[in-house]
Amino acid sequence: MLDLRKTPPHPLVAASILSADFGRMVEECKDVLGRGADLLHLDVMDGHFVPNLTMGQDMCRALRKHLPGAYLDVHLMVERPGDYVDMFAAAGASHFCFHVEVCKPLLKGGIDAGELVRRIHDKGMAAGLAINPPTPGPGSGNGDQGFMAVIEPLLGELDMVLVMSVNPGRSGQAFIPEVLEKARLLKPLLRPTTRLEIDGGINAQTARPAAAAGVDVMVTASALFGAADRSAVIKALHGSAKAG
Ligand code: DX5
Ligand code: ZN
Repeated sequence: MLDLRKTPPHPLVAASILSADFGRMVEECKDVLGRGADLLHLDVMDGHFVPNLTMGQDMCRALRKHLPGAYLDVHLMVERPGDYVDMFAAAGASHFCFHVEVCKPLLKGGIDAGELVRRIHDKGMAAGLAINPPTPGPGSGNGDQGFMAVIEPLLGELDMVLVMSVNPGRSGQAFIPEVLEKARLLKPLLRPTTRLEIDGGINAQTARPAAAAGVDVMVTASALFGAADRSAVIKALHGSAKAG
């Protein structure tokens, strides 16, 4: 199994199965892993945090059963991530990533992110926090810390920070370049063992500025599963940090 605590020699590719053929899911996953994808990215949506419904812990369990060595990167776009920690741990998830927008102090009465990170770790999973494009950071004029109020106290504990480069909800949207400002801000603050992931609109072109901003895990759904040559896409993303 991939060790995400090690700084990778090149940006890693997380294949988001939302754009795979759901009727042939295991074959699709074997195909992209065989071509060099490093992680499988599972987008869980609850119909509340975002309007869409996608997949749940049973998909995770099925992939773990058929792909015992795969790194299963679970991205929860849900209002109550704490309700699903035990389920995804039992279903074999490797990484459990939830959103800062459902946490205190960004959300009044929201969840305690530190407490949830510790529960995730106690269950043997890596823990990550995701940030939506419109969520402000420090210095955005309102005098507060924005997403940093959630992330900063946890910098010593997080295994991954995920910068969303589309508004979450579906695959196939255009990359929002302004979010790279968040990546540039976060990168120097992260431990060498904490990965910086980007998700949304990533392809051979958009991966380059993302890599330059310090991103080391590239999520891709439509650009990978929709490509005529999937190997070429993976190769381009692996090479996205190279100059030229
Ligand atoms: C969006 C999801 C993404 C999505 C990416 O809400 O979190 O993981 O599948 O899709 P593309 O790569 O097509 O933008
Ligand atoms: Zn995602």
